[in-house]
Amino acid sequence: MECATLVEVAEQTPAILQPTILVIDDDRHFRTLVRHLLERAGYDVLEAENGIEGMALLEWAPVDLVITDPPYESLQLHRSRGTTTRLTTNWFATVPNSRLPELLASVYRVLRRDRHFYLFCDEVTADVIKQQQGVGVDRLPNGARPCEAGFVYWKEILWGKTTLDGQRIRGGTGYHYRAASERILFFEKGKRPLADLGIPDVLLAARSTVPGPAVKPNAVVRTLVVQSSAPGELIVDPFCGTGVVGVEARAHGRRFLLGDIDLAYLDPSLAGVAPPGVTRRVADGIEPIAPPELEELASGAGDVRAAARAAGWLDGDAPTPELDELLRIRPREREAAVRRSLRAPPAPSDPPLLRAWRAWALSGRRMS
Ligand SMILES: C[S@@+](CC[C@H](N)C(=O)[O-])C[C@H]1O[C@@H](n2cnc3c(N)ncnc32)[C@H](O)[C@@H]1O
Repeated sequence: MECATLVEVAEQTPAILQPTILVIDDDRHFRTLVRHLLERAGYDVLEAENGIEGMALLEWAPVDLVITDPPYESLQLHRSRGTTTRLTTNWFATVPNSRLPELLASVYRVLRRDRHFYLFCDEVTADVIKQQQGVGVDRLPNGARPCEAGFVYWKEILWGKTTLDGQRIRGGTGYHYRAASERILFFEKGKRPLADLGIPDVLLAARSTVPGPAVKPNAVVRTLVVQSSAPGELIVDPFCGTGVVGVEARAHGRRFLLGDIDLAYLDPSLAGVAPPGVTRRVADGIEPIAPPELEELASGAGDVRAAARAAGWLDGDAPTPELDELLRIRPREREAAVRRSLRAPPAPSDPPLLRAWRAWALSGRRMS
């Protein structure tokens, strides 16, 4: 079961958009439970099984801009080759390439006319999407290329990754010539002028220092927000991760809708728009401690075993079915599942060590 997630229309909500939460979870029973809780708290609730379906549900909202960074399949390539240490842990599940046309079609449907769509990806996925969308040599008289989904495709914008001081380009993943850039595919529905036609198509920025999965730098997202939306307009990111799109939207007076199957990395400044218990904020004041290797729980010290019992991982000194399930996952791929298992609002009876493990599950800290 994935962690419950929301999309909320935050701030300056016009009357037509009542506070609405989109619950994304692949477990139907869990969605129903969360729906009842939220309805009782006065929200309108929509349910979806994943981010792509969530996007399709937004037809009721006049969306002005979509900026998103789906967990594309080619990330698995980097993970399996181990050419990057950052991706060798199981940060998140990936969305198969075969579902990307559905995502683009949904974005096209929910966007108002004369609006933009930006999609972050690597060079491999950029090729896949262009092929899927029939983007070839044919150009319209204005130079843009038509897409199957209905957009025109303009070009790739590059995020050029620099060192933290911004002085040098910094190589990252890959085998032949390490990738120092990410692609941002720029699509348009209808016709909308950019705010500043003088901005170059290479945006230089250091990697974000915010903990989380493949976080995009604020400076790059800020440029896209300011170029393609006006104050008060609604920006959507259905795969929001840390919610950098929401942070920049809010900073520039735009409204925003964020979705993700796992809000554990949501920027603490956005915790107020997330359901209680799923963001890092709840861990405030507790020093996070990563749990030990799960194989060692039963033979651990007294406080470790007490915490493991309270977490539902040990019954006496024997593994519970939940622990057995976690143990079935290979240790290096286990991290996301362990975090999810620990993500529950702390109970008053939780021993201090379990509180520290729960704080770790909501932090960006790595397991070892
Ligand atoms: C590349 S990360 C996005 C990072 C984000 N742009 C940022 O700067 O923090 C992809 C996100 O998609 C989420 N995700 C994976 N599968 C999903 C699904 N089926 N529906 C919604 N979100 C999903 C992951 O939890 C992860 O946070």
